[in-house]
Amino acid sequence: MADPGLSRFCLFCLVHIALLPSLCFAADPYVFYDLHVSYLTASPLGVPQQVIAVNERFPGPVINSTTNNNVVVNVWNDLDEDLLMTWSGIQMRRNSWQDGVLGTNCPIHPKKNWTYQFQVKDQIGSFFYFPSLKFQRASGGFGPFIINNRNIIPIPFAQPDGDIIIMIGDWYTRSHKALRSALDAGQDLGMPDGVIINGKGPYRYNTTLVPDGIEYETIHVDPGKTYRLRVHNVGISTSLNFRIQNHFLILAETEGHYTVQQNFTDVDIHVGQSYSFLVTMDQNASSDYYIVASARFVNESLWQRVTGVAVLHYSNSKGPATGPLPDPPNDTYDKSRPLNQAVSIRQNVSASGARPNPQGSFHYGSINVTETYVIKIVPPVQINGTLRATLNGISFVNPNTPIRLADQYKVKGEYKLDFPSRPLNRTPRIDRSVINATYKGFIEVIFQNNDTVMQSFHVDGYSFFVIGMDFGDWTEESRNRYNKWDAISRCTTQVFPGGWTAVLVSLDNVGTWNIRAENLDRWYLGQETYMKIVNPEENGETEMAAPENVLYCGALQQLSKDLTNSAVSLPRGSSKLSFCLLVAFYAMITLFS
Ligand SMILES: *[C@@H]1O[C@H](CO)[C@@H](O)[C@H](O)[C@H]1NC(C)=O
Ligand SMILES: *[C@@H]1O[C@H](CO)[C@@H](O)[C@H](O)[C@H]1NC(C)=O
Ligand SMILES: *[C@@H]1O[C@H](CO)[C@@H](O)[C@H](O)[C@H]1NC(C)=O
Ligand SMILES: *[C@@H]1O[C@H](CO)[C@@H](O)[C@H](O)[C@H]1NC(C)=O
Ligand SMILES: *[C@@H]1O[C@H](CO)[C@@H](O)[C@H](O)[C@H]1NC(C)=O
Ligand SMILES: *[C@@H]1O[C@H](CO)[C@@H](O)[C@H](O)[C@H]1NC(C)=O
Ligand SMILES: *[C@@H]1O[C@H](CO)[C@@H](O)[C@H](O)[C@H]1NC(C)=O
Ligand SMILES: *[C@@H]1O[C@H](CO)[C@@H](O)[C@H](O)[C@H]1NC(C)=O
Ligand SMILES: *[C@@H]1O[C@H](CO)[C@@H](O)[C@H](O)[C@H]1NC(C)=O
Ligand SMILES: *[C@@H]1O[C@H](CO)[C@@H](O)[C@H](O)[C@H]1NC(C)=O
Ligand SMILES: *[C@@H]1O[C@H](CO)[C@@H](O)[C@H](O)[C@H]1NC(C)=O
Ligand SMILES: *[C@@H]1O[C@H](CO)[C@@H](O)[C@H](O)[C@H]1NC(C)=O
Repeated sequence: MADPGLSRFCLFCLVHIALLPSLCFAADPYVFYDLHVSYLTASPLGVPQQVIAVNERFPGPVINSTTNNNVVVNVWNDLDEDLLMTWSGIQMRRNSWQDGVLGTNCPIHPKKNWTYQFQVKDQIGSFFYFPSLKFQRASGGFGPFIINNRNIIPIPFAQPDGDIIIMIGDWYTRSHKALRSALDAGQDLGMPDGVIINGKGPYRYNTTLVPDGIEYETIHVDPGKTYRLRVHNVGISTSLNFRIQNHFLILAETEGHYTVQQNFTDVDIHVGQSYSFLVTMDQNASSDYYIVASARFVNESLWQRVTGVAVLHYSNSKGPATGPLPDPPNDTYDKSRPLNQAVSIRQNVSASGARPNPQGSFHYGSINVTETYVIKIVPPVQINGTLRATLNGISFVNPNTPIRLADQYKVKGEYKLDFPSRPLNRTPRIDRSVINATYKGFIEVIFQNNDTVMQSFHVDGYSFFVIGMDFGDWTEESRNRYNKWDAISRCTTQVFPGGWTAVLVSLDNVGTWNIRAENLDRWYLGQETYMKIVNPEENGETEMAAPENVLYCGALQQLSKDLTNSAVSLPRGSSKLSFCLLVAFYAMITLFS
C-alpha cells in the first residue's frame, strides 16, 4: 500500500465499473457459458467410437436462459477441424453475425476459441445448439437451449414439477468423417445403426434385437407428478415416432410458441424439430415403462433395430419394464394420419409468450403477401461428376467470405442475389445464389417435395406460420385451404415426400439467414441457401455492426489476427450502450478533476 489516495481511487473505480453494467443493463441480465468441444470415446450402441462431446459430456450441457437475457458463450474448438456452433431457433435479432453458419461466420480453427454474444430477445421455448460444419452433428456436439418465461409472464399451464430433456436421433457407428467421405463418393448412407436417447443406446427389451451390455437412459420420476418433457430430434435424417408406454403426452409448446394443449399417445418428431409435452405420472408403477423413439415412414420390419428405447422409472416402481414395446402408429389404411396430426398442431392464440400480449394477436391471415417463393426439392443428381442436392435446381456452395462481411469490405463475386422464386426448367448447377428479400415484406414460401424421403426445412433468424401442408402438387387453389387463424409458428417444418408445406414469414429481422434442409445428408450435398434482408433506411432497425472479435477468412484472410486476448465485445447498435459510455466518461472526468 504505497499510496492510500491511489488505492482509494481504485476502489472507487472498481465500484463504478461493477455498478455500470448493472445500472445500464439491469433489465437484461447476462448469462455466461464456456463450451469446450472435443472428441470422446463412447459406445452409444455398444461399439466404441469417437463422438463429439461438449465439456466432456455427450450430449452437451444445457444453456439455460430467460427471455431478453444476454447470452455469452465462449466456444473452444478442441477438434482437429474447423468448427462453428449454431443455435437452432434462436432469432439473433439484427445480429446474424452470431448465427454460426458459414454464410455468416468464418470458422473457428482447431485449438482456437471464439466468444458468441447475442440476446434472446422476445423469445421463450425449447431449442438446441449443434455444430454446423462438416457433418459434425452426426457425431454429436449438440445440447439443449432453454429460454424460460420471465417471472411476470405466466406460462399457460400449471408449473410442472420438473423439466426433463430428451434428445433423440438416428445414429451410425461410423464417424462423421466416414459418413462425409461416403457422401463425397456419391454413396447413400444406408440404414442407420440405431436410435440414441440422450446419447445412449436401447434398453434390452428384446434379447434377439438388442445386444447385451448397452448402456441405456433411465428417467427418474415420482408418482403423481407432472413433468415438462422437452424432446428434440437432433438426428441425421430419420423421422421418429415418440411415445411412452401407458402414458399420454399433452403437447404444450413447439419451438418457441405455446400450442393448443392436446392429448396424444404418440407424436412424429422430424429431424430438427422440438416439442414440450406435459406428462403426468398417473400409473400404478407395477413396472417401469418404455420410452420409445422408432423410425417412421420406412419399412418398419426392416428397420426394427432403428429404435431408441429408454426407461421411465417411478421412485416406487415394482420392477423392470417387460413385454413388447407399445405399438407404433399403424397407417396401413390411413396414409393421412401423420399429415392430420401435423395440421392439428395449432397455436394457443390467447397464451402469452415472451410478451404480456398474447403471441397469436398478430393477425397474419389478413396481411397481404408481398412475394411468393416456390422451392422445389428433387432427389440428389449428378452435377459435373459429383452427387449434389438442389433447391430450385441450384446446389449451394458457401462463399469463401461470409456474405455481410464481404458486403462490408466490398469484396465482389462471393455470392449472387439471384435465387429464383420459382423452379426453373434448366440444368441443375452448383452456385452461390442467395434470395434478395425485401425488408418488411410478408412472404409466402412453398416447399414442394418431389424427393422420395421426408424432409424438414429450417429458417434461421425467424419463426414462420405453417399455414398449409398436403400431399400432391401445390397450386394457387391450395391457398383456399390455408389456416389463416391459428397456424403454429415455429422454425422447422416437415415436408412430406410427394407433398408440400406452405409457410408465411414476416421479414422484420435484418441480416443474412440460412434456409436449409435439416436432413444432414441433403444439407451437406447443397440443399440450402440464404436470405439477405437489408433495411434501406437508417431508422434504428438496421443490422448490428460486426462484433469486435469478428473472424476474417476468404478474401479477408489478411485482416485476421490472433484475438485470443481480446475482451468480449459489448452489444453494439444500442443507444443505451452509448449513453452508458457517456456516463462512464463523465464519471472518469469527475474523478480526475
Ligand atoms: C434454469 O434456470 C431456472 C431459473 O434460473 C431454474 O428454475 C431451472 O431449473 C433451470 N433449468 C435447467 C434445466 O437447468
Ligand atoms: C478466448 O477465451 C479467452 C479466455 O476466456 C477470452 O478472453 C477471449 O476473448 C476468447 N477469444 C475470443 C476470440 O472470443
Ligand atoms: C391457452 O392459453 C390460456 C392462457 O394461458 C390458457 O388458460 C388455456 O388453457 C390455453 N388453452 C389451451 C386449449 O391450451
Ligand atoms: C424379439 O424380436 C424378434 C424379431 O422381431 C421376434 O421374432 C421375437 O418374437 C421377439 N421376442 C420377444 C420376446 O418379443
Ligand atoms: C388423455 O386422453 C385419455 C384417453 O382419452 C384420458 O384418459 C386422459 O385423461 C387424457 N389426459 C388429459 C390430461 O386430458
Ligand atoms: C397396475 O395396472 C395394470 C394395468 O395398467 C394392471 O394390470 C395391474 O394389475 C395393476 N397393478 C396393481 C398392483 O394394481
Ligand atoms: C418390408 O420388408 C420386408 C422384408 O424385406 C418385405 O417382405 C415387405 O414386403 C416390405 N414391406 C413393404 C411395405 O415394402
Ligand atoms: C395395421 O392395421 C391393419 C388393420 O387393422 C391390420 O390388418 C394390420 O395387421 C396392422 N399392421 C400392423 C403392423 O400392426
Ligand atoms: C390487400 O390487397 C387487397 C387487394 O389487392 C387490397 O384491397 C387491400 O387493401 C390490401 N390490404 C392491405 C392491408 O394492404
Ligand atoms: C462444371 O464445371 C465447369 C468447370 O469447373 C464449370 O464451368 C461448369 O459451369 C460446371 N457445370 C455445372 C452444371 O455446374
Ligand atoms: C435487391 O432488392 C432491392 C429491393 O428490395 C433492389 O433495390 C436491389 O436492386 C436488388 N438487388 C439485386 C442484385 O437484384
Ligand atoms: C415428382 O414429380 C413428377 C412430375 O411432376 C411426378 O410424376 C412424381 O409423382 C413426383 N414424385 C414425387 C415423389 O413427388
